[in-house]
Amino acid sequence: MVLEQIRVGSDNFCYVIYCPVHKKAAIVDPGFDATKALQVLTSQNVQLEYVILTHYHSDHSSETKHLKKNYPLAQIVASKEDGKRLPIRPDVVVSDGSKLKVGTIVLSFLLTPGHTSGGICIIVDGNALLTGDTLFIGDCGRTDLPGGSLEEMFQTLQEKILSLPEDLIVYPGHDYGAKPFDSLGNQKRTNKTLRARTLKEFSLIP
Ligand SMILES: [Fe+2]
Repeated sequence: MVLEQIRVGSDNFCYVIYCPVHKKAAIVDPGFDATKALQVLTSQNVQLEYVILTHYHSDHSSETKHLKKNYPLAQIVASKEDGKRLPIRPDVVVSDGSKLKVGTIVLSFLLTPGHTSGGICIIVDGNALLTGDTLFIGDCGRTDLPGGSLEEMFQTLQEKILSLPEDLIVYPGHDYGAKPFDSLGNQKRTNKTLRARTLKEFSLIP
């Protein structure tokens, strides 16, 4: 499995995940400048199978059309809730526990509401955790936008994220932290939003 983290827009991350054996790829969150991700596909001679949107916000999804133009057979993947808010209908709707394969790579999906009502995180081959705008390095996503919920975000962090293995590497949707990625174990120890133990404590984080 190869995962490439590509910085796009002012501070967004887009990801290309590909299987060099079967020459299949998935792109996660093409918000800006899809040409950078397309260059990876062409240079590696891999076929785009899935365009996965962690949530509906345009800074994570607006280049989907551009990718579909180049790879018309690529399938758009989103949750049911956020899929409804996208300008293009998803081809594949994922929910908690859904799995997809890209060549030999296994993608496992978690429904992680809080930033939006249908936000998802993706575990790639049991070693990378793509968190979209659910979890950043050192912080979590905003909960004050339409569809966001402070209570749901707290529940997601407590019940979904904190229960995952420490050796997963967190790859966020924005470059907001001191580093572009980090181990989940380190985030569990240092990220203020994962250290809050009660909803009250969580709500008081600046
Ligand atoms: Fe967002």
